[in-house]
Amino acid sequence: MRVVFLSPTYPPEMREFTRGLAEVGAEVLGVGDGSPDAELRRYLADYLQVPSIMDEDDVIARVHAWLRGREVDRVLANWEPLVITAARLRERFGLPGMSVDAVRGFRDKQLMKERVAAAGLRVPRAQRVHTIKDAWAAVERTGYPAIIKPISGAGSADTYKVESAKDLERVLPHMRHVTEASCEEFIEGEEYTYDTACIDAAPVYESVTRYLPNALEMRSLEWVSPIMMSVKDLGQPHVTGGIELGRKVLRALGMGDGMTHMEWFRKPDGEAVFGEIACRPGGACIVDQMNYTSDIDLFVEWARVATARRFEAPTERKYNVGIIFKRAQGQGRISNIVGLREYLARYGAHVVEDTLLRPGTPRRDWKTTLLSDGYLVVRHPDWDHACEMAFAAATDIQLYAS
Ligand SMILES: Nc1ncnc2c1ncn2[C@@H]1O[C@H](COP(=O)(O)OP(=O)(O)OP(=O)(O)O)[C@@H](O)[C@H]1O
Ligand SMILES: [Mg+2]
Repeated sequence: MRVVFLSPTYPPEMREFTRGLAEVGAEVLGVGDGSPDAELRRYLADYLQVPSIMDEDDVIARVHAWLRGREVDRVLANWEPLVITAARLRERFGLPGMSVDAVRGFRDKQLMKERVAAAGLRVPRAQRVHTIKDAWAAVERTGYPAIIKPISGAGSADTYKVESAKDLERVLPHMRHVTEASCEEFIEGEEYTYDTACIDAAPVYESVTRYLPNALEMRSLEWVSPIMMSVKDLGQPHVTGGIELGRKVLRALGMGDGMTHMEWFRKPDGEAVFGEIACRPGGACIVDQMNYTSDIDLFVEWARVATARRFEAPTERKYNVGIIFKRAQGQGRISNIVGLREYLARYGAHVVEDTLLRPGTPRRDWKTTLLSDGYLVVRHPDWDHACEMAFAAATDIQLYAS
């Protein structure tokens, strides 16, 4: 099987998906604007370096010319901005996989909600807007609090909760560069993910992760140590509503073969409300987290699903896995870590990864990467115990920079 895989060099976890493809026996033809290092080269049969992977028309023309005379079986992408490019290439070459129209249902937040709502599922009331005037009219209709965010956003960039007309007035100037936005009813509740590997819209692997706090607060409050906690027991009444919702969403949107990442809210009355969904795996850590939850390798299983429509790993869930992201106080380079030694003495047996930046390392920009100044991964079969360890990592470990 010969597979074109878009952007094997970026984001960093794409290297792992490339490895997965090579390990299931695919001949991988990479296309990207980065330059693969020696290790990544080992998984690639060929590589086309393009000037900009974001220039859709140019990438399509170049790939077309590059492949002339070579048969290809699949075109795949696991990075959000490239899922449409991959679908356009599939259509151009007449290859199996999701159509451009199906992928748009996972990419355009308004279309997605319309399709999900048409299947009788609960979505936030929302409207697509193009101008400041439209935004005022839309929020007047939905009422406060409301959410205003880009139609094809990522990483909570340019996403605002507005509580009043005064708030909206303050926020709108910051949205000037956004050409299309969604004005939505604000859903009060706990936020979770529903992640899958699917064959023809039917999940063969499922996982749920709780965000603590909700993603928007994680992304807007620097002092918070965001926690993502995978849920071992998917039969808990707390999450079954979201799983049911997720399965129906996959069918409503016509998912194909591959991984998905959905976000949903659990309202105080227990109702599960759709947030958004992508037809690609969740960002870096969530695939690692699922791997730690079940002791499996989803990078390889994704490749098997996408090329051979089979999933072979055990789906038993052994642990609740917590990832705790840390942000240093101060600017510049990490100068000191307080509380880590005591933390490890207490919980070290359950810590499976420690990537906290060590003294001397420059701080990362917490606004652009959730990885922040590093993270700990802890796991335990007991939910309360796993939460206790995660909360302790959030409150008892401090990084300083100067
Ligand atoms: N209607 C809503 N009600 C309540 N909170 C919302 C709503 N829409 C968005 N949010 C909050 O804003 C966050 C970002 O919104 P959304 O997931 O749509 O954008 P995104 O930029 O694609 O996110 P990411 O790439 O971080 O997953 C959500 O995870 C949620 O916390
Ligand atoms: Mg999101």
